[in-house]
Amino acid sequence: MTRVLPFPGVRRASSTTHDILPRKVRFDWANTPLEWIPGQPFASHFINEINMILPAGEFWFCRLYNQALPFVTDDKLRADVQAFVRQEAMHARAHAGACSEYLRAHGIDTRRNLAVMDWLFERALGDEPFGRKLPRLLQRRWLVFRLGIIAAVEHMTCVLGKYALNNREWDKAGADPVLLDLIRWHGAEEIEHRSVAFDLYTHLGGSYLSRYYLSAITFVAVFGIWADGAADLMCQDPRFAKQRPSVFRPWLWREWVRVARNGHLPDPLWLFLTELPYLSPWYDPRNEASTEQALAYLARSPAARSAAA
Ligand SMILES: [Fe+2]
Ligand SMILES: [Fe+2]
Repeated sequence: MTRVLPFPGVRRASSTTHDILPRKVRFDWANTPLEWIPGQPFASHFINEINMILPAGEFWFCRLYNQALPFVTDDKLRADVQAFVRQEAMHARAHAGACSEYLRAHGIDTRRNLAVMDWLFERALGDEPFGRKLPRLLQRRWLVFRLGIIAAVEHMTCVLGKYALNNREWDKAGADPVLLDLIRWHGAEEIEHRSVAFDLYTHLGGSYLSRYYLSAITFVAVFGIWADGAADLMCQDPRFAKQRPSVFRPWLWREWVRVARNGHLPDPLWLFLTELPYLSPWYDPRNEASTEQALAYLARSPAARSAAA
């Protein structure tokens, strides 16, 4: 009897040639200051915000990937997806730990920004969006649509991971080694598993043209939510009282560009340009970063080394 595949257009298997390795890391936040890049409060708050964005998003990746797993027909891709889930779950736990043991320990009120992320991933992007149960046929389309969002986001996390590994300005400024290791360990694993989301999306029928609207939606959403959350953190810092930081005030965007010119944040225009390869018909995540560079960092990352020990 012929088995009917639940998704049309299955056409891609794993393109990852190495085994993806989950690492059980731990971070000690006892000595990390809130301004973890000395003299750079804007960049410190901006990057601290990722600790609030990521846990809800990465646990959502894991839930969707576990739903998609029974439809994967390529053994290597199935193993990649399982390792991806274990890595993303560890990323979510590490950033959630930073929220509770680091940000809240410094008196930061995380409730508003965490509530925004919960609303996004549980209400708007959950299996029953805004509480509406979808008909069976639409459930499949909704799953593939959301896998497309993950593939577009994973292109961004690969780019950001490469940026974190290459940024030397943070080291020159004397950035806190624990937070630096958190973002570089995470960035390196994003590079290590950079092909999985794209492979899975195309394997389950994700189309080429969908990449245009999915990358447009995710680019605006990711950087809008990031800037909005960072503004909320700055509002809790009396040094920014005069600027009244808000995603709707030009000051925030001008300051982002200024701080990026000094090398402490990725430039918004550069981030936009890094989206363009994703739209190419010849896009291949393997060309976007170096697995060797990522594994070299993971071999010397204090958190990854103690996990291996
Ligand atoms: Fe991640
Ligand atoms: Fe990832």
